[in-house]
Amino acid sequence: MAMNDDLQKRIQQAMADPKNLGEMADADSVGTVGNSDCGEMLRMWVKFREDGGRKIIDKASFQSFGCETAIAVASLATELIRGKTAEEALALKTEELAGELGPLPPMKIHCAQLVEGALRSALAPQTAPAPVSAPKSAPTLLDSISNLAASGGKITFLDETSA
Ligand code: FES
Repeated sequence: MAMNDDLQKRIQQAMADPKNLGEMADADSVGTVGNSDCGEMLRMWVKFREDGGRKIIDKASFQSFGCETAIAVASLATELIRGKTAEEALALKTEELAGELGPLPPMKIHCAQLVEGALRSALAPQTAPAPVSAPKSAPTLLDSISNLAASGGKITFLDETSA
């Protein structure tokens, strides 16, 4: 079928010279996702830099274990997200990440989703900081009051009737 031949050509083009392939030693974050159905796993590294007060993606790289479509999409996606903030990169849709590969056949959509998943996993810590958990020993208000009372402090309680 012509459309598939076309796609195959575009995938092969991207495969012939995949961009940003390989581990990044000085990455700021890394994301890994796997698909248990096809056994493919994709890892993505991202490095940021400051740009006029904005934190943008300086470069991204990836490693994939065999799936040509995932490699082709990852190659395009890692180019596409350069210069974007984490939020902007996360706002990209799967089809946008696949870029010039064009619409993927249904059986190949999950390959692009794998790239998207790895990207989300790598970028997530940048957009949603880990919740700051309250220190376990945080004193309750009651503790503070009894400590204050025990140390001879004066506690003034509001008198509701005088309001
Ligand atoms: Fe599963 Fe491409 S075949 S990621």
